[in-house]
Amino acid sequence: MVSNIQNDGFSEFRIRTLKTVLFILLCLPALSLGYAAFSNSFADPIKELTLTTGEWALRILLMTLAITPLRRLTGWGKLARLRRMLGLFSFFYMISHFLIYLVLDRYLYWPDIIVDFTERPYIIAGLTCLLACAPLAITSTDGMIRRLGGRMWKRLHKLVYLAAIAAVLHFLWLVKSDLTEPLIYGTILFFLFFDRIRTNNIWPSFSEKLFRTTAAPN
Ligand code: HEM
Repeated sequence: MVSNIQNDGFSEFRIRTLKTVLFILLCLPALSLGYAAFSNSFADPIKELTLTTGEWALRILLMTLAITPLRRLTGWGKLARLRRMLGLFSFFYMISHFLIYLVLDRYLYWPDIIVDFTERPYIIAGLTCLLACAPLAITSTDGMIRRLGGRMWKRLHKLVYLAAIAAVLHFLWLVKSDLTEPLIYGTILFFLFFDRIRTNNIWPSFSEKLFRTTAAPN
């Protein structure tokens, strides 16, 4: 299976082109938000900026998680080289979302912020996601990966599952009436998790028990 994924015939040129195109596409939401904000085209700029950055952070986080099953399904092992960029873009949108909330929404007024952080479940879930992603972003450089060692780095990356659950909960909790959108993200996350458990990636002992095919007695 591994060699099948690695010898995928996906040329260096193709993966570099794909990376460049993806980079441009991932910049577009930020650029269009910046443009709309500076040209005063939002009725409620703070709300628009908060919601759009939050949505893109979540979408890109799910795209990051989708790389592994996509590699397996297509056999294109080099897709793994898009994962770090996707993860960092998701973190960029998370930080922007957080800063917009802190500075533009709450005017850095800490008494209110502390109440939010301690009493509002959806804010606590958002903060959990952000804090779970921070070590992943910090250790994403080649130097840090080398220093940590592959095993430790892989272990640390299991935090991405906590982050994704927290992000979906954040969205579910904050929505007051129409749950359709957060439920769509939740369903996507459920299938991504199911795939990871099935392929032994997050919880090997549990998935062994769940999907073990008991050998028929001779
Ligand atoms: C401490 C961290 C965070 C804070 C304080 C925060 C705060 C907020 C606030 C105030 C809203 C708008 C609520 C409303 O207007 O009803 C919001 C919406 C949202 N946030 Fe966060 N957030 C945080 C982290 C995150 C993270 C890490 C993600 C994604 C990975 C995220 C994704 C979203 C989404 C998807 C929405 C709803 C967008 C929509 O309704 O279209 N947030 N957040």
